[in-house]
Amino acid sequence: MAVGIFDSGLGGLTVLDAAQKRLSDVDFLYFADSAHAPYGVRDAEDIYQLTRKAVSDLWSRGCDLVILACNTASAAALRRMQEEGVPEGKRVLGVFVPLIEALTERQWGDNSPPREVAVKHVALFATPATVSSRAFQRELAFRAIGVDVEAQSCGGVVDAIEDGDMILAEALVRSHVDALKRKMPEPQAAILGCTHYPLMAETFQKALGPDVQVFSQGDLVAQSLADYLQRHPNMLGTGEGGFVTTGKPDFVSDRATQFLRRQIAFEAA
Ligand code: DGL
Repeated sequence: MAVGIFDSGLGGLTVLDAAQKRLSDVDFLYFADSAHAPYGVRDAEDIYQLTRKAVSDLWSRGCDLVILACNTASAAALRRMQEEGVPEGKRVLGVFVPLIEALTERQWGDNSPPREVAVKHVALFATPATVSSRAFQRELAFRAIGVDVEAQSCGGVVDAIEDGDMILAEALVRSHVDALKRKMPEPQAAILGCTHYPLMAETFQKALGPDVQVFSQGDLVAQSLADYLQRHPNMLGTGEGGFVTTGKPDFVSDRATQFLRRQIAFEAA
């Protein structure tokens, strides 16, 4: 029995880690499409095709429920996949809604009309594809009014993390935060809208300053997954847990082991 977790690469490990801590009796099958990462510089059609292929692979390995632990895929592919229809008994969910519900102080599934919320100035850090989709702003507009969002497209950060070049990743994060602050000098909250970015959370927080509340997705998605599985216990699937990648398993395993600080062994997808 395993729930599928999908990301273009290593970022979804931040979601997997939180999910494993919260749901210790659930197995997870993690799919990293490392051969095609980063997704954030691809066009929407490309992201859709790659995401659809990877999710179908997870379904065929016995996962009934797949979490897109990737904002870029959630922004560019999730709605289209759901609209085109998924196989019977299968489900695919994204990572935007739990984050936006937390930001707008809503309980799960509260679909009441948009209302004023405490936070007024929000910085969004995400990949170029997520920023240009405006999916975050759209989901926010369904739930809140009067929130000013300034989006900063963080080119290069995902590549640096995937390559294990954390010095470059830190320098890029600092320069993206500087660029954001030139547009919005005093954000109240910052959204790490890419699952890779929690790996750089300290650098974001330091560059933003202690007064900015930084939201990242790991715990929020894990909590919402726990709620979902409680309501749908039949979605645990039949597959086995593990780690698969379209990239080089040894290289990806080394990086993953470094990030999660425990031994992770990927197999070829
Ligand atoms: N971790 C991903 C996200 O949340 C994808 C990054 C990428 O492949 O560019 O957006």
